[in-house]
Amino acid sequence: MIIEISKLNYIYNPGTPFERKALNHIDLEIEEGEFIGLIGHTGSGKSTLVQHLNGLIKPSSGDIIIDGVNICKKDTDLKKIRQKVGLVFQYPEYQLFEETIYKDIAFGPQNLGLNEEQIHERVKEAMEVVGLDYESLKDRSPFELSGGQKRRVAIAGVIAMKPKVLILDEPTAGLDPHGRDEILNEIQGLFEKEGITIILVSHSMEDIAKLVDRIVVMDSGRVAMDGKTRDIFKKSKELEEIGLGIPQITKFMKAYKAKGHDVRDDILTVEEAKIEILRYLRRKEND
Ligand SMILES: Nc1ncnc2c1ncn2[C@@H]1O[C@H](COP(=O)(O)OP(=O)(O)OP(=O)(O)O)[C@@H](O)[C@H]1O
Ligand SMILES: [Mg+2]
Repeated sequence: MIIEISKLNYIYNPGTPFERKALNHIDLEIEEGEFIGLIGHTGSGKSTLVQHLNGLIKPSSGDIIIDGVNICKKDTDLKKIRQKVGLVFQYPEYQLFEETIYKDIAFGPQNLGLNEEQIHERVKEAMEVVGLDYESLKDRSPFELSGGQKRRVAIAGVIAMKPKVLILDEPTAGLDPHGRDEILNEIQGLFEKEGITIILVSHSMEDIAKLVDRIVVMDSGRVAMDGKTRDIFKKSKELEEIGLGIPQITKFMKAYKAKGHDVRDDILTVEEAKIEILRYLRRKEND
C-alpha cells in the first residue's frame, strides 16, 4: 500500500468565527500503480485532501501513512515525502519564477542534490513527457508562453523529481478543449509508460471517465463513493444528487436503453458506444 489514510479530519481556522470543517473522517487506501480520479464539486475538500498527502497541511486528527512512513509525526522528514509525492497545484503556472524554462524545471532536481548531468537528463525527459520541445524552449522565459504551455512547464517541474506518486489538482482548469485533451493524453502516456501512481483531481466526469480505473467521489468533506469507474457511473442517480453529472455519452446510452433498445448502459466513451450500437443493430438485423 503506497498511501493509507485513516480517520483523517481537517478544520480550517479552528476556534475562530471562520472555523470550517473541510475533511470529515476520511479513510482511503491507495495501492502502488493505481490511476485514481478524485472527483467532487467545488468546496468538497479535494484540494485540502491532496495537500495533506505531501505534508503541506497537517491533519487536525487522524493518520496518513505514505510508503510505510507516518507523515503526521513531528519528526517526519518532509523533504523525503515531497520527493515521493509530487503535487501539481491548481493553477501551478502562477508558481513559475525562474528566468528560463530550463531553470524552472531544474529547480526540484537541484534540491535533490543531483549533479548537472543528471539534472539535464531529468529536465529533458520531463519536457518530452509534457510535449515541450527541449532545444527551442529551454532558454526561453516561461512568462512568454501561452497558458497551456506554462501549465506544461509547471507539470514538468514536478515530473522531473520522479515522484512515486503524482497528484495533479485540476490540471486542465481554464484550458481550451484542445489543450485539455492534450494534457490529459500526456498524463495517460506517463501512466502507461512509467506505471507510477497517479491521483487526478477533477470536477469533470467527462475528463476522468476515459482515463482512470478507480474513482473516489467527495462530497462535503467526506468520501461519498469509491469504486471502479464503470461501477461508479452506474450510480447516476446518487451522482446527480450530489451535483455531479455522468458523461454525456453514458447518459445517452442509458436513455437509449430505457427506450427499449437492448444495449449495455455502462458505456464510458463515444468509441465504446459506437461499437455497442453497431453490435446491437447487427444482432437485430440477424434476428
Ligand atoms: N485557506 C482556507 N481557509 C479557510 N477555509 C478554506 C481554505 N481553503 C479551503 N477552505 C474551505 O474548505 C472547504 C474545502 O475546500 P477545498 O479547496 O479543499 O475544496 P475543493 O474540492 O478543492 O474545491 P474546488 O473544486 O473549488 O477546487 C471549502 O468549504 C473551502 O471554502
Ligand atoms: Mg480545489
